[in-house]
Amino acid sequence: MTSLYTNRQLIFADDNNDKKSISVNILETFDTSSSYGLYLWPCSPILAQYIWYNRNDFIGKNILEIGAGTSLPGLVAAKIGAQNIILCDNPKVDKWLSLIHETIQLNSMIADRIHIEYLDWYNEKSIDELIKKYFPSNIDIILGSDIFFHKKDFETIIALLDKFFTYGHSSLKFLGTIERRSRSTMLKLNHLIHIWNMKLDIIPLNDFNGDTIYPNIIAGHDILLFSIVKNTT
Ligand SMILES: C[S@@+](CC[C@H](N)C(=O)[O-])C[C@H]1O[C@@H](n2cnc3c(N)ncnc32)[C@H](O)[C@@H]1O
Repeated sequence: MTSLYTNRQLIFADDNNDKKSISVNILETFDTSSSYGLYLWPCSPILAQYIWYNRNDFIGKNILEIGAGTSLPGLVAAKIGAQNIILCDNPKVDKWLSLIHETIQLNSMIADRIHIEYLDWYNEKSIDELIKKYFPSNIDIILGSDIFFHKKDFETIIALLDKFFTYGHSSLKFLGTIERRSRSTMLKLNHLIHIWNMKLDIIPLNDFNGDTIYPNIIAGHDILLFSIVKNTT
């Protein structure tokens, strides 16, 4: 098949003497007619590095990645031994399906552990279908790299997470990265977290070497990694 995409190889390695590492090939397209999702956003290697560094927490787990785009975090989870990985993106991004199939092939991934689904955050039917198929007992962690991108989408995404928390098991959590593109980014997110009775915890990048990886991709971008859970009180 003639590829429409550019291949970027990312390596995640321990900084000790174990010399353990994994390599993931990511396909991107810079074709301006396609979505902004088909590009590796700087938030993505940071979330992937968190998963690599904390891989014992992901082995055997069922992972859902929303707004996955090039899907680096989900693919790292697959490589380190997560049980099932569901990668989702917007059905309006027509090239996503072929990009992700080609990426999986390129990485010789075990295709039966990776599930590819369309999910539009604004489409209740597609949300309900996904929940029916994979919840309540089957998802442990939801991933989202740079999905809090347009402020107009923030509350829709929080409402989506709320629905997942309602149908998921009690320890279900969201792990995500966000780029502070303006001073009000976190103000807006924190405000919504409060209204929707959730808890957001920021995890410092230097806890997992997220402050030193891929400076060529990340330099100059102000990125935070955080978890969100539903408050039980
Ligand atoms: C900034 S990109 C991040 C892509 C990828 N996670 C990364 O970090 O490289 C935002 C992603 O959200 C997806 N997205 C935007 N609106 C969406 C919607 N209504 N439903 C589902 N996904 C959506 C886009 O298609 C895109 O993949």
